[in-house]
Amino acid sequence: MVTLIDTSQEPLIREICDRHQNKPDELLEILHDIQATDGYISDGALKIVADALNISRAEAHGVVSFYHDFRRTAPPQATIKICRAEACQAVGSEELAHYAEATLNTKFGDAAEGADFGLKAVYCLGNCALGPAMMIDETLYGRVTPERFDAVCEDQRTNRRQ
Ligand code: FES
Repeated sequence: MVTLIDTSQEPLIREICDRHQNKPDELLEILHDIQATDGYISDGALKIVADALNISRAEAHGVVSFYHDFRRTAPPQATIKICRAEACQAVGSEELAHYAEATLNTKFGDAAEGADFGLKAVYCLGNCALGPAMMIDETLYGRVTPERFDAVCEDQRTNRRQ
């Protein structure tokens, strides 16, 4: 299998490896630094790390796949947190959650690579009186109907394009 490397990321990954003096026993820290910077660890990044540390790609891949915290695909551009706790459930958050999955064509916790939005279930955003509640970045939204959900998503997309 041919692994395409995004050459724009190579200097940054090499710099991270250099900061750890290319020590194989610092592989885990290096991978965490890459994920903190890029949001995920691509196949290309893994190849560069293996080369810099003079370890096999299988060894590097083994570490990445053992720890579930590591993402292997680009994260969504934003994550929509929808409250699924009792007070919000009582006013329609489950219906909102199903609507969000259908509209965005994604499941909770399973966003496509580089998608506009990912979905995350949360259990109380401290906005119980104004449920169903959701949050994008640090902005909290209350009384979210499907129409309001669509409007908020569209606003988010528009703001990102500017
Ligand atoms: S239960 Fe949804 S914000 Fe508290």
